[in-house]
Amino acid sequence: MRRFCLVVIGGLAVSACGGGGDGGSGPPTITSVVVNGDSTVVLAGTRQLTATAMSGATPVTSGVTFLWASGDTTKATVSGTGVVTGIRLGTAAISAVPLLNGVLTTVIGTHSIRARIGSIAITPTSSQMASLGDTVLLTAEGRDALNAPAPGVTFTWRTRTAAVVEVTPRANTAQADVVAIGNGTARILATGDGVSDSVAVTVRQVATTLSLTPATATLHSVGATLTPAITANDARGNPVAPSGLGWTSQSTGVATVNTTTGVITAVDEGQSRVIVTSGALADTVLVSVDQIPATITISPANFGVPDVTMRTGQNAPFYATVLDSLGHVATHDSVTWSTTDATTANVSGVATLDSTVITTFASAGSATITATASPVSASRVVGVTNMPVSYATDVQTVFNNHCTTCHAGASAPEGMSLVAAVSYSNIVEHAAGEVSVLERVRSFRPDSSYLVHKIQGTQTTVGGSGARMPFGCSGASCLDDATINLIRNWILQGAQNN
Ligand code: HEC
Repeated sequence: MRRFCLVVIGGLAVSACGGGGDGGSGPPTITSVVVNGDSTVVLAGTRQLTATAMSGATPVTSGVTFLWASGDTTKATVSGTGVVTGIRLGTAAISAVPLLNGVLTTVIGTHSIRARIGSIAITPTSSQMASLGDTVLLTAEGRDALNAPAPGVTFTWRTRTAAVVEVTPRANTAQADVVAIGNGTARILATGDGVSDSVAVTVRQVATTLSLTPATATLHSVGATLTPAITANDARGNPVAPSGLGWTSQSTGVATVNTTTGVITAVDEGQSRVIVTSGALADTVLVSVDQIPATITISPANFGVPDVTMRTGQNAPFYATVLDSLGHVATHDSVTWSTTDATTANVSGVATLDSTVITTFASAGSATITATASPVSASRVVGVTNMPVSYATDVQTVFNNHCTTCHAGASAPEGMSLVAAVSYSNIVEHAAGEVSVLERVRSFRPDSSYLVHKIQGTQTTVGGSGARMPFGCSGASCLDDATINLIRNWILQGAQNN
């Protein structure tokens, strides 16, 4: 084989010389052709292939040109310099036959190249769905290197977010139905001819209906609450978590509504419509407040045995307090009064709503007085005696035995001396020092007499203060119930100075 070398003299290449392995006798023999280049070409795009003639393991360059040809020019063509152009989807075998010094050789090099699409276009490029069950039809299309449509590609479809959409390809088409199944954004991929593209689909449920349950409700106690259930649905009837809720009560004097939680609270008897809004949607619940009496208490209270005892031929006011189940006064409920024996103790013919006047007659005995506020009632046994409590002998004796050690003289607590000469005027219809709106003793009204609360130890329930009397007492050293009852009945009988 001849050996060639490049001799450079004075900057000029004057000759090219080389060598083969045969010791320099004639041109080399081309034994094979190696064709290199990409295995695919985009439709309407080009790829440069290169061919190398080989003599054994040695490339031959000098005097070598190639004749290029495509085995299927409907799929790909090739230029005289090895530039392949994609024509239609499919594979073509490109061949290169070397010419040595212009003479065709008998070796051939081949290279298989596949014409493919350059990209995929999916339409619509983005979409939004407002109800679960809504669908969007996606269409994929192959595109060549010039972005022109390249038909004939089969696509596979899938979603990256299975909780948001389901994707179902339509058989024998380049389309797929996308069904909304949950809120969120899903990326959907179409793959064809080895190329992929994706689009985003957003599912955001929009409520089209809003409703409250129940539609009407009645609350039977002030302070009672109702939490209406709220339902919002999208256009296909699927539940939506309602957003941006606003709550209003049309009559806050009847019922209030918590603007955050929607909890409705009864305030007073009447009706109020409570409105919930979410955007342009609204619904209401009609709330009625109708207190149902749960307890009724009669005053004067019974404090020990015997029960309240009036004297013959007197009048005294009795009061009833009606409470609902939560202990709020039922101001709109009226009370009716009755007696078991109208000749002994009669209720007034003109009893006001919550109070009556008990009138006793000449006969001693007892009668049961009943106050009714449907559905509850309460009774009090009223004894009638012709031997009323005596201030001088009964009440003053209690003061002498239990009170005057402190309540005597000019320096008596609260200036209240309870010694016989002055005690009556110091207590009956005399304002209390500790609670000036109350009298120490208010005739006929033991429960409105501050002195009674001080010996019962209930002074703080009427705004009073200080200790239970006798001062410092506890347990047996306090006045017993019978003694307290004696003073109460003396007051009920008119707090006479007898
Ligand atoms: C050991 C002394 C002492 C005895 C006994 C005593 N008190 Fe008092 N009392 C006081 C003192 C001190 C006050 C004022 C401070 C207080 O209320 O705790 C007072 C206040 C009162 C008041 C409030 C008067 C007002 O106008 O605010 C009444 C009513 C009262 N006593 C009634 C009685 C009666 C009734 C007895 C007997 C059953 C009695 N006390 C026995 C010391 C006593």
